[in-house]
Amino acid sequence: MFYFDHNATTPVACEVAKTFAAALSEVSGNASSSHRAGQQARSRLEEARVTIARSLGCSAQELVFTSGGTESDNLAIFGLTQNIPLRGKHVIATSIEHPAVLETVRQLGRDGMDVTLAAPSVSGIAQAIRPETVLVSVMHANNETGSIQPIREIARLVKERRASGQQIFFHSDGVQAFGKVPVNVHELGVDLYSISAHKIYGPKGCSSCTDGYKGRVGIYQVMPVTEALGRIIMEGGNAIDIADQAAKEGVWDLRRAGLEKIKQGMTSIDEVNSVTIE
Ligand SMILES: Cc1ncc(COP(=O)(O)O)c(C=O)c1O
Repeated sequence: MFYFDHNATTPVACEVAKTFAAALSEVSGNASSSHRAGQQARSRLEEARVTIARSLGCSAQELVFTSGGTESDNLAIFGLTQNIPLRGKHVIATSIEHPAVLETVRQLGRDGMDVTLAAPSVSGIAQAIRPETVLVSVMHANNETGSIQPIREIARLVKERRASGQQIFFHSDGVQAFGKVPVNVHELGVDLYSISAHKIYGPKGCSSCTDGYKGRVGIYQVMPVTEALGRIIMEGGNAIDIADQAAKEGVWDLRRAGLEKIKQGMTSIDEVNSVTIE
C-alpha cells in the first residue's frame, strides 16, 4: 500500500521508532522526581524543550508539552479565556478551522461568550474585531486545502489593538504548517501557537503530560507543543530534523522527489526520507 495522506498523519520514521524504544528503556524516571532517575529524565526533557524551542524561534520557558494538536488548541483557547480575568467576552475564529478549534470555540459560545466565525483573511478578521474581542484564532495552514493564512498581517492587526489598550491575544493552529513552511513564532507575531508530532513523522499522542502548565497559561507567549514531539527530540531529534529539512528545502519539492523515488521502486520510509533535492 502507498500511503499519501500525510495531512491526516505521517508514519513514524524508523529512526524515531528505534530511538523512542531505546529511550523508553533507558530513561525510566519520572521527570518530577527529585532522585537521580527523575533528574535524568528531567534533564533529557529540558534538552528536548530547548531543541524544539530553537526550531520555533522561542525560548524554552515558552513551551508547554501536551499530548497532541487537539489538546494544544484546547489548552490555548480555554487556558486563555478561562485563566485570566478578561475584560471582554468576544472570541473570533475562522470558518475554516479544524474541529480542534471550532468545537472549542463552540463550547465557549455555550458557556456564554460571543463567538464570530470570520473569513480567513485580514479584512475578515478586521471586520469581526470588536472592542470586547479577547481572542483571535486563525490556523496557519489548512488541513484540507493547504491554504496559508496571512498570520503576520493578522498578528499586526491584533498588536495594533493591543497597543491601543485592548486586552486581545492571537492564537494560531500551526499543526499543518510546522515542518512544511519555516516557522518562527516571534517573527510571525503570534501569542500562542500549536503544533503536533504525528504530522512530522513522530508518534501519535503520548500518554502523559509531564510538564505542569498551571499558572503559565494565561500569560501570553505560551507555545503548546506535544509531549510526543518532546520525546522524539529527546530521543534523537529525527522528526525535527526532517521538519527542518522539509522547511528549508521546500516540502513540496521533497514530496515530489519522494514520489519519484517511490515510482522507481523505493518503498521504505527510510529510503523515502533519505531523499534530497539535487
Ligand atoms: C489543522 C489541525 N489542527 C489540529 C489537529 C489535531 O491534531 P492532533 O491529531 O495531534 O490532535 C489536526 C489534525 O488533523 C489538524 O490538521
